[in-house]
Amino acid sequence: MAKLPVQFRLNGSDRAGFVDPAGNLLDLLRRGLGDFAPKYGCGQGTCGVCTVLIDGEPQLSCLTLAISCEGRQIETASGMADGPNLHPLQQAFMDNFAAQCGFCTPGMLTAARALLAKNPNPTRDEVVEAISGNICRCTGYEPIIAAILAAAAGGAGMRRA
Ligand code: FES
Ligand code: FES
Repeated sequence: MAKLPVQFRLNGSDRAGFVDPAGNLLDLLRRGLGDFAPKYGCGQGTCGVCTVLIDGEPQLSCLTLAISCEGRQIETASGMADGPNLHPLQQAFMDNFAAQCGFCTPGMLTAARALLAKNPNPTRDEVVEAISGNICRCTGYEPIIAAILAAAAGGAGMRRA
């Protein structure tokens, strides 16, 4: 099947690729563009490890057609740090031992980033709701919730990035 061109912004840079009409964004990011932050877990929309931001909204890249991303702004956890300086959410995850194996962490960070961009001071229940589509097999969730609340208390949601 003929491949189709697609162009978009990825973590602030112009990127382009050729995709199968039915190809998903996760494959393009990982295999085509070498961004390995979004993970392949279930491949069917139930685990959240492939979460990216598309025009600021958290989306499951395994269920997103790559061709539908033409002209969109895609953000992944790879773009969160500012050079050697971690994003406050990343620092809070470290400080609160919110990453163990780390497989869920990019998706969790992305879901948390979307939450704080819209709601800089969420309640605990709002944090739980925001990450309810992201499965973690290691932490029991409490350190993740604590990290997100700590980042919010430190003003992470007030940043533009
Ligand atoms: S890999 Fe996309 S939701 Fe599981
Ligand atoms: S830290 Fe291992 S799955 Fe969440």
